Amino acid sequence: MADRPAEVPRPEPAPGLRLSRRGLFTGGAAVAVGVVATGTAAADAVRRGDAPVTDGTAVEPFHGPRQAGVATPPQAHAVFAGFDLRDGVDREGVSRLMRLLTDDARRLTQGRPALADTEPQLAALPARLTVTFGFGSGLYAAAGAGGRPAALPAFTVDRLERRWSGGDLLVQICADDPLTVAHTLRMIVKDTRSFATVRWSQRGFRQAAHSRKPGLTQRNVLGQLDGTANPAPGTPEFDRAVWAPDGGTTLVLRRIRVNMETWDAADAVAKEFTIGRRLGDGAPLTGRTERDEPDFARLGAAGFPVISEFAHIRRARVDDPAVRILRRVYNYDEGVTRDGVADTGLLFASYQADVARQFVPIQRRLAEADLLNEWTTPVGSAVFTIPPGCGPDGWIGEGVLA
Ligand code: HEM
Repeated sequence: MADRPAEVPRPEPAPGLRLSRRGLFTGGAAVAVGVVATGTAAADAVRRGDAPVTDGTAVEPFHGPRQAGVATPPQAHAVFAGFDLRDGVDREGVSRLMRLLTDDARRLTQGRPALADTEPQLAALPARLTVTFGFGSGLYAAAGAGGRPAALPAFTVDRLERRWSGGDLLVQICADDPLTVAHTLRMIVKDTRSFATVRWSQRGFRQAAHSRKPGLTQRNVLGQLDGTANPAPGTPEFDRAVWAPDGGTTLVLRRIRVNMETWDAADAVAKEFTIGRRLGDGAPLTGRTERDEPDFARLGAAGFPVISEFAHIRRARVDDPAVRILRRVYNYDEGVTRDGVADTGLLFASYQADVARQFVPIQRRLAEADLLNEWTTPVGSAVFTIPPGCGPDGWIGEGVLA
């Protein structure tokens, strides 16, 4: 039997993560300072690769020119909720709703209960909670406001179901603790009730925050490293691709079902050929490590491209960094049928400054020819404008609705 060390040394938490519970409830400037310090120290630790496991008290800043939950390193759990405004809810009603929801988000993300919180205990561990709001075209119509998001064209691969598509208002809730996500959704739904009905809610997950070093690419339900070629937050390329000049962005949310039965029947060579990257380390088929640039010109011994003309990464590739998309993808897995067939796939969330210039051309190329289409089917689709963030006295959407 192998020897086991008597005690595994525990890493010291980064200073910024030691946010005291008392500090969370004192309100005012001290909290604001603590929040910023926490975010920065945690981010530094992540960059150094020596971050301790996530602490449930860790907070993400809520206030700022841009909403959180886009450039934020993805949390392990998410729910996306789409709402339909009730008949007669006009600009004034939507403004009231957004003031209420902003207040909920402002409190809950910082570890404080919502007003009239029915389970205030559940607010104590925000676990990097972010609450991000998006407006669909119906909300702009109801409010008589300009700036509605462009509708997506129909793609040949689409098999869209209404129960996963559309919506006037989006609330995206992400945290490293699924209980925090559930509680936050409850509070949001409660406050939304007299203004809107729930059209859909979609839960997603990524690899657990504690299971591996932060900053590494996650694996999706197909077993692939997913997110490698994303623009890197904090770079000018990221800012240009993701943020509109006003500090807003757009979200395309696609629910993509994966036929795991037939995917499991494919061998590793076929799976790697389909994507153009290796399953083990995510390296392109022409490279040695995950971060190597794919060499699309390289030919194999038989004279064919090593990365197929129809491989997912070749079809999805965009050369101009300004028109790339940010994929912040979650898995879904809604259990199995009596026959053992899984209802599983991706909640494919794509953020970009301009849907028509960035998302649509990529999705068109994939719909035309992508080997992955053999196993994947988009069953839900929705587009939202993500308005800019707000300051301590403001509310999300004030620029559109006030
Ligand atoms: C179930 C559906 C999908 C799966 C399983 C999937 C999986 C992957 C994987 C494994 C990679 C390679 C690693 C990486 O760079 O992240 C990748 C890359 C990429 N995917 Fe997807 N993807 C899916 C759908 C989509 C959709 C709908 C779009 C856009 C409309 C898209 C756009 C991209 C882009 C832009 C890249 C990076 C290409 C590059 O420049 O190398 N994917 N995807």
